[in-house]
Amino acid sequence: MTNPLTSLMTMLLKRLRYIIALLGSMTILLVLYIQNSAVFFFTCKRAQRASHICLEDRGNSSWFSERYKPTVPLLLNSTNSELHANIFSWWNELQHVPNVANYTEVVNQLFSLFPDEEHYSDAGPDRCRTCAVVGNSGNLLGSNYGQLIDSYDFVIRINKGPTENYEMDVGSKTTHRILYPESAVDLNDNTHLVLLPFKVLDMQWLISAFTTKKITQTYKEVPSTIKASKDKVMILHPEFMRYVHDNWAEGHGRYPSTGFLALIFALHICDKVNVFGFGANSNGNWHHYFDETLASFESSSHGGDFEIQTINHLNQENKISMYKGLT
Ligand code: C5P
Repeated sequence: MTNPLTSLMTMLLKRLRYIIALLGSMTILLVLYIQNSAVFFFTCKRAQRASHICLEDRGNSSWFSERYKPTVPLLLNSTNSELHANIFSWWNELQHVPNVANYTEVVNQLFSLFPDEEHYSDAGPDRCRTCAVVGNSGNLLGSNYGQLIDSYDFVIRINKGPTENYEMDVGSKTTHRILYPESAVDLNDNTHLVLLPFKVLDMQWLISAFTTKKITQTYKEVPSTIKASKDKVMILHPEFMRYVHDNWAEGHGRYPSTGFLALIFALHICDKVNVFGFGANSNGNWHHYFDETLASFESSSHGGDFEIQTINHLNQENKISMYKGLT
């Protein structure tokens, strides 16, 4: 026969164990709840902050809406490559290099080699992609913008603009580099090569640079090859070039400068556009930050003065943030 005291103790012990198990589970649930709430809270805060960055500058601007065409094709792929006759003839006559190749055949070759995708079709109210477009102006020297530039999601650089030895002023991150055969430089594996084609031969050069390496000459000598990731290659659409010329440069110059095209490209693929290294320095010099060559955008084939006016206008309308350097 069991002692009543023993059975009472056993029962109490059982209850105690039950209560401890219950309290344990409740504590675990509480900890999980607090953890999830904290994650949710901070994610919301971050999203709010991010969307605040993207939304703060948006406003209605009829000047902007008259020019901005959200449906323009930005990058070439096999399904959007057919060109209206007037666009093809404008584009094909930009540079006076005789075209003997068949555009359609070259495009087919391009997309048997490089990604045939619809890029950046993810625009919407929830996207908050911040970008830096870095031009090659000498006004970057001494600016200390490097860290700021590197803090953006995309850093778009242009032509030969180097980062090595200029990190403090221009940063070191490059997600995209816009170039053409005559301005080509080697890229890191994680950088998108964005070809700016001024002629069919430029597309052929791109193919050749990754295959036979036979093309070494356009209107001047060009590199036979380029170090870059084949699966990160993109090609600006000729129709986009014409749109920038008509809508944003308003027909000034024969065709837009690479930097201006890069900036308008960023307006389309980014939600917050920060612009560095455009324009003359405070002495009115248009030289590059990396050499003493005086670039002559204000009087070249690019209508540089008008481009700078338009960039300043975009800044005034809060569509971009312009950083003019200190020099
Ligand atoms: O000289 P480059 O064309 O390589 O420079 C890249 C771009 O930087 C130019 O197309 C132009 O838009 C911009 N730039 C500028 N002011 C300078 C030098 C370059 O706005 N002084």
